[in-house]
Parts: sequence; structure tokens; C-alpha cells
Amino acid sequence: MINVPLSYNEIDADALARILKSFAGRHHEEIVKEFENQLSRKTGASHALAVQSGTAAMHLALQVAGVKSGDVVIAPTFAYVATISPATYLGARLVLVDSELETWNMDPSLTKEAINGELSKGNRVAAIVVVHNYGMPARMEELVTLSKEFNVPLIEDAAESFGSQYNGRWTGTLGDLGVFSFNSNKSVTAFGGGALVSSRNEWVNHARYLSSHARSEVPYYLHEVVGYNYRMSPLTAAYGLVQLENSVSALERRRDLYHSYHQLGESLGLNFQRNSPNVDFQPWLAACLLPDGMDPALVLERLGQEGMEGRRLWKPMHTQPAFKKSTIVGGQASELLFARGLCLPAGSSSGYPPQVSRVIDLILNS
Ligand SMILES: Cc1ncc(COP(=O)(O)O)c(C=O)c1O
Repeated sequence: MINVPLSYNEIDADALARILKSFAGRHHEEIVKEFENQLSRKTGASHALAVQSGTAAMHLALQVAGVKSGDVVIAPTFAYVATISPATYLGARLVLVDSELETWNMDPSLTKEAINGELSKGNRVAAIVVVHNYGMPARMEELVTLSKEFNVPLIEDAAESFGSQYNGRWTGTLGDLGVFSFNSNKSVTAFGGGALVSSRNEWVNHARYLSSHARSEVPYYLHEVVGYNYRMSPLTAAYGLVQLENSVSALERRRDLYHSYHQLGESLGLNFQRNSPNVDFQPWLAACLLPDGMDPALVLERLGQEGMEGRRLWKPMHTQPAFKKSTIVGGQASELLFARGLCLPAGSSSGYPPQVSRVIDLILNS
């Protein structure tokens, strides 16, 4: 039985009821609108659209950025699948880029190599997608510079990095478009849902239109193009409001736990992501590399025997059968991360935090 889950959030039914009561008599759409406003205020994003998932937000982001069938999308190989799969919904071809071993995120120099390689073959590079794995910001300065140099929109997947900042600005608001997820295991959750943010109002408005079946504003059903049913439900938005109210303590809890894991783990031979001084890192999960020669599968089994849930790091996308047609630039760094890495249990939001020394002890004695 699992007593210490990887990442679990309890539902605060009283807080949910309080939010719902505060909207009594008003149109449900106002709850979603309020969630969008609060999210913009919190993150510093100019415009926000609430949708059904982070995956839907990425799909819309790529489409409004102009990605079309046959285009190339540059994306990280070391990522959760939802970072890259929406590009294929649009018929784009993925060119996957390896990580650097400081932040574990997309390597800017390999990104440049990937763009130049595609341009030299006469291909259109329509977007660059970057993800901030486990909350750690990628090297945004260099990636924003590349995006400007090649005039290719940069889309940030900030699904795991809610609260992380780079040069004082929230991840998700540094590129041309940003994506958030509020699924059940995230630090700040609405038990589903996602959001798209941008400083470009016309892109967010276009995404809003596509997210409601591309229905035109006329007094009958008119659809000039094919859209999607991606709008966030009012109940999801209501829980999102509960969580935005409590986000400071939820994020602090994750930070404290991460620091305990980091402090003890590093002194005993575990390796963690490294950030530069201009980064304010808000961890989602504590991810680490095991000492050389240790097998993460065996460690997971050992943790499981004690009722604790860990997880392997992402299996690189270029090694997944579903993406075998994509191109890969580099690859060894992400393969090493997968071979040696582990996410440590974060436990549940209102339960006792995992016993850090016990977790580390189990790992090192596996
Ligand atoms: C990096 C990343 N991108 C995208 C997503 C997709 O979000 P959702 O589950 O809300 O579709 C997630 C989370 O699941 C994620 O971790």
C-alpha cells in the first residue's frame, strides 16, 4: 500500500463551496473569467485563456503561432509527452533537441544547430517549444535570443514550473506564448485544466475562438473554420480559484521539502538540477540522479516496499516508438538522465511530509 504518494492533493470541499457561494446568482462564465484574471495577476501575464488541460493549451499555442502541416517544430527530447505530442496533431514534424546537464532542459547550442540544420535543407521552422522540467527554468536568455534571431515563436511549457522565475519574471511569460497545467498532481491544481498566456492579445483571442468550436459571434451557429471544445469548466475554475488563494503555502511546502532532500541527498552523493543566480527555482518534484552504478528500477521497488512512491525521470522522446519518425539532435544527455534519475516522493498536500532521511536511507541501501 502507498502511504507516501509521489504527489497528491486533497480536495478542500469547504473552500470550494465558499468560492461557489460567492458566485451565486451570477453567470457561470464569470467564474472562468475570474480565474483568468487572477492567473494573469499572479503570473504577470498580460492575457490568459483557461482551457481543459495543459495539452489543449499547447495545441492552441502551436496553432495560433502559425504551425501548419509539414512545418518543423523544435522541441526537447527530455520532456513529458504532452510537451511534444500536440505538434503532431497539427501534422508538424518534430526535431528533438537534447538537454544540457546543468538544468536538464533543452540545450541552447544544440537548439541553434537544430534550427540551422533544418533551414539549410529548406524546411520551415514554425515554432520552438521549451519545457522547464520539474520546475527548473531552462536557459531562457539564450533561447529568447535564438527565437528573435531566427524570427521563430518561442512557446514555453510551464506546466511543471508554476512559481519559478527567471530574471524576476514568471516562467510561462518569457516567451511568446506560455502553457500552464492544473492537473491533479501539480503544485497548484484545479484537478484538471490548463491555461494559455501571452502578451499578444490577438493570439489569446484567436485561441479563445478556436477553443469554443470556432463559433462566430452571430445569433446562430456559424463556423468559418474547424475548432475544438477546449474551454475550462466553471467547476474546474472554481477550484483553481481556491488554489490560487492558497498557492503561497502550497509552493512553500514543495520548496521546503525539496531543500531538505537536496541538503541531505547531495551530501550523500545524489545529484540535483543546478540553476543560475538569476533563477528563482520553484520545484515541482525533487528529481535527482543516483550515484553511478545504482539502478533506479531497484530503488523504486525498495521504496514501494515501504509504501513510498517514486518515479523514473522522463524516458527521452526520441527513444519512444510513437515518435520514431522525429529527428534527434544529440541524445546522450537525456539518455543518461533516464538511466540514472529518480523523482522522490512529495507526499500529499495536507498529510505529513515524507521522512526525508528515511527516503534517502532507503535509496542508498537499495
Ligand atoms: C511538462 C508538461 N507539459 C504538459 C502537461 C500536460 O498537462 P495536462 O495534463 O493538463 O494536459 C504536463 C502535465 O501533465 C506536463 O508535466
